[in-house]
Amino acid sequence: MAQFEYDTLLVDTVDEVSTITFNRPEARNAMNPQFHFDMRDALKDVAADNDTRVVVLTGSAGSWIAGMDLKQFFYEGFKNPRGMADAGEAAGVWNRSLRYMPKPTIAMVNGYVFGAAFSVLCACDIAVADEEALLGLPEINWGIAPGGNLLFDIPEMMPFRDMLWMALSGENITGKQAADMRFVNFAVPQAELKNKVLDIAENLKKKAPEALQSTKLGARLSLKMDREHQGAFIMALSGQAGRSADARGTGGTTRALEQFMDKKYRPAFGEYDWQTEESNPR
Ligand code: COA
Repeated sequence: MAQFEYDTLLVDTVDEVSTITFNRPEARNAMNPQFHFDMRDALKDVAADNDTRVVVLTGSAGSWIAGMDLKQFFYEGFKNPRGMADAGEAAGVWNRSLRYMPKPTIAMVNGYVFGAAFSVLCACDIAVADEEALLGLPEINWGIAPGGNLLFDIPEMMPFRDMLWMALSGENITGKQAADMRFVNFAVPQAELKNKVLDIAENLKKKAPEALQSTKLGARLSLKMDREHQGAFIMALSGQAGRSADARGTGGTTRALEQFMDKKYRPAFGEYDWQTEESNPR
């Protein structure tokens, strides 16, 4: 991948996995205006990068994101409404880019996740946490409600009852508790976090990119559709994926289906390998 430079982020690409590291350790990676502008650019860069198949998001210095920057985004922002509006607009743009990123995204939650960071976590497809990470909605503790789209985004990924408890009590949960309530997929000891994420990324890299994109966009957008529109929409999306060059078979079928008919392939036991076409013979 071409090297990109950002003030508040590090981006590193190894073996088709691009890792975006939030890099404001002095503020526990709280999101200041520059962070929003950098994320807006970085997500465009990795989405367009041909060497990137999977995107991982993590934080520096034992923190994921400590929420919005209370000093530079809010305190200074209230004195500079135009600057706050620009940063807020960028925040909305990059959250949307992350949700609909054409490549799969994995949150590698290595520490604090507070307030607005929940919307970032919800926008990632898969989440793996250090079991001792700390997650919370502290807004109620200082007299406000969780802002932005938090109360809209969180129930997509967490049981409603748990969200209400967190938002009303202001109590924190650990990564382990987040996994127990299914807000993250897995919680592992800190020493295993990176390997767990890279194992997931390796598996995703073996899947057809078009099918990954159709599945995640289909899932994300289906949530806001009625059943009729959802069915038609996913049919169109998966038709597009099935027409990709690698998947095409003869007479409108796919090569994987042909192999299944010839008893050379069982889809439930792994991805179809169109190079050998002998993925897992019966
Ligand atoms: N905005 C701006 N600065 C923040 C920040 C935030 N959200 N969270 C942490 N920081 C800064 C602190 O002010 C401190 O800066 P300083 O060294 O210049 O004084 C630095 O990060 C380290 O924070 P500190 O509180 O000393 O570290 P800690 O590990 O003991 O606690 C937190 C970290 C995140 C638990 C604590 O700082 C906190 O409660 N932050 C606010 C979290 C929040 O309410 N987020 C929701 C906003 S939407």
